Amino acid sequence: MTTTITPPTPDNISHAAKLLKNGEIVAIPTETVYGLAANALNPAAIEKIFTAKGRPRDNPLIVHVSDMEMVRELELKIPALAERLAERFWAGSLTMIFKKIGNIIPPEVSCGLDTVAIRVPNHAIALEIIKQCGSPLAAPSANISGCPSPTKAEHVFADLKDKIPLIIDGGNCSCGLESTVIMLDENKIKILRPGAVTAEMLSEFGEVVVEDKGSLHSPGTRHKHYSPKAKVIAVDGNVNDLGEFVIANPEAHTLFAKLREFDDLGAEQIFIRLPEPVGIGLALYNRIVRAAEFNIVKVK
Ligand code: TXA
Ligand code: MG
Repeated sequence: MTTTITPPTPDNISHAAKLLKNGEIVAIPTETVYGLAANALNPAAIEKIFTAKGRPRDNPLIVHVSDMEMVRELELKIPALAERLAERFWAGSLTMIFKKIGNIIPPEVSCGLDTVAIRVPNHAIALEIIKQCGSPLAAPSANISGCPSPTKAEHVFADLKDKIPLIIDGGNCSCGLESTVIMLDENKIKILRPGAVTAEMLSEFGEVVVEDKGSLHSPGTRHKHYSPKAKVIAVDGNVNDLGEFVIANPEAHTLFAKLREFDDLGAEQIFIRLPEPVGIGLALYNRIVRAAEFNIVKVK
């Protein structure tokens, strides 16, 4: 299959929506990272996502909708706290996990779990494609499983060329880090994957529980993650003590792009300084220790 990269013209957006309606998979931009989208109500299309990415069959997908109204049609239990969080953080990089109370979302999406992860992307192109499809889109990050998430159309092409028909090029992702994934338990907000919607921001709405910053679990986090070809070493120390260490001040919107750039330059090792695990720093810390497979060197 030939993979085409096209700019987001109205014609190309309609074409993407048509492919998705016909059960194809298409890479689309979002504000966090590029997603590999399929009609969430079509099990055969969902299967294509797992095959193209080489995604482990026990790693559930996030379903993307255009607004809360669309969530209401999906037979999910929506607690009052979720309504408040949606009002504040949607459209945006917050994914909420809801209990299923019906079977509109097929079991393939959540790998048989009794829950579904939902988010509204804050991206005009993604929202327009969802609207034209008229159905929710399941979309994991559009990379080969285990590789750094794609924040440019070229990253998607490098990983998935010949495996998908179309990539809609929306330029660089403004956030550059995957969404915060949370689960609600009464008035507790449990963070399964930290992101740009931080623990501090969520704490206005209820008690926030962040699992140990080194071992945050969500089904997907058991697997190898964010790994470039080069060996990554996480460095725990002050900027002044780093000497030759390379990514001294990692930033959300460039981290994954830098990992891929260094691979292209033939780097064998990439050193990344660990940020303070507060605010957005917690999300960066989480991605870096995983890219380094928990290989952390303490400086001083
Ligand atoms: O920003 C994002 O979230 C991007 C863009 C494309 O929206 N998507 C993304 O998807 O990062 P993915 O598949 O790379 O990560 C989804 C994460 C995984 O860690 C997965 O285990 C978790 O969400 N997840 C999905 N459904 C879940 C569920 N029902 N229960 C617990 N965790 C779930
Ligand atoms: Mg991913």
